[in-house]
Amino acid sequence: MGTLNGLSFHSVKGGVGKSTLATWAGLDIARRFPEAHVWLIDMDLTGTSLSDALPLTAPRLSADGRGGLNLRAPATEWLTESETRDGILVRAAVEAPTLPTGVPYLNDFLLFADPSWEADQDAVPGALGWRLEGGPENLRVLPSSALPQDLWRTVPVIFDEEHAAFLEARLELLLAAMCRDAGDADLWVVFDVPPTLPGLSRAVLSLCLRLSRPPGDRTPLAELDPEIPAPLDTLPIRWVAQLVCSMDRQDLRAAKRWADLVITDDLERVRALFNRLEPGDAQRQPAEFLDLLRARLGGAEVLPALWGDELVRVPDAPDLRVFQDDLGPPPQVVIDLMEQLLAPFSERQG
Ligand SMILES: Nc1ncnc2c1ncn2[C@@H]1O[C@H](COP(=O)(O)OP(=O)(O)OP(=O)(O)O)[C@@H](O)[C@H]1O
Ligand SMILES: [Mg+2]
Repeated sequence: MGTLNGLSFHSVKGGVGKSTLATWAGLDIARRFPEAHVWLIDMDLTGTSLSDALPLTAPRLSADGRGGLNLRAPATEWLTESETRDGILVRAAVEAPTLPTGVPYLNDFLLFADPSWEADQDAVPGALGWRLEGGPENLRVLPSSALPQDLWRTVPVIFDEEHAAFLEARLELLLAAMCRDAGDADLWVVFDVPPTLPGLSRAVLSLCLRLSRPPGDRTPLAELDPEIPAPLDTLPIRWVAQLVCSMDRQDLRAAKRWADLVITDDLERVRALFNRLEPGDAQRQPAEFLDLLRARLGGAEVLPALWGDELVRVPDAPDLRVFQDDLGPPPQVVIDLMEQLLAPFSERQG
């Protein structure tokens, strides 16, 4: 068995750079550890889908015999870019989907579990992973759907607190299956999480905090079913939750409140990431928030605001500018930031 390493990007305010940072991290980790299995998981089910923001191709899946895609067998081939676009259109044409068609999304795993609820009938991660064109071979992306018909099904669930635990349980099963697939290789999961605290965001944070304790101290999700699915019960797990903050006073205030909700024993595994700092920002912002966050959390990183050629637009995704050109290396400040983000993982390994 390898180890499970998690990095999740959270925020209170929207638009602070979570998707950009998660994408950079997924790419950086996959390039750094070519033997590892690396998953970039798009938990922002209400935001821009990574499938609309990155040059992704969907897995080629067989039919399941009931009019949907067979999500029980891992893909060995991927669609071309134009077949992927067609697949998204096929899915968009179904008005009230109950079965996945065209292309698979994370939504299918979270919501459309097999009606039989038999564990051996569940979707497998290998059927859900999309490939990044020109990206590292060991990186898989699990995009969420931004199609209206999927949102219609998803929104009531993710904003309903009673369903947050259900979603957390589904995520836990997904990670357990990913660990089993990785075998002796290390597994890295990088989560792009929606802004705010409740719902999906809380499900990911809770999963992080429960699983990254030492094996004997890990708490199961439900008292009635006190099982942590193997191998998550015994596997070495390290996970850092990055709280991404902008230099906006309201955001810093809200981030501090967010940090106050995490109990002291867990704060070491939460770090702050001040993104888009402009010269003089650190002086202009009330030191009480910056210092409080730095002092309360496991640490703090800073990424300056990048300009011009450093951030080039991804085709078709004017709002998400990730790469210098295509999938080339990011600017040096980002490479330096990644070193800092990964430091806690090697420290604890030793
Ligand atoms: N350090 C930076 N310097 C300049 N621009 C940045 C920086 N980080 C992110 N951006 C830009 O900020 C915008 C928002 O980033 P991104 O979409 O990653 O935020 P987000 O937190 O995922 O947003 P949402 O909450 O809507 O999902 C993008 O245009 C991105 O290119
Ligand atoms: Mg985002």
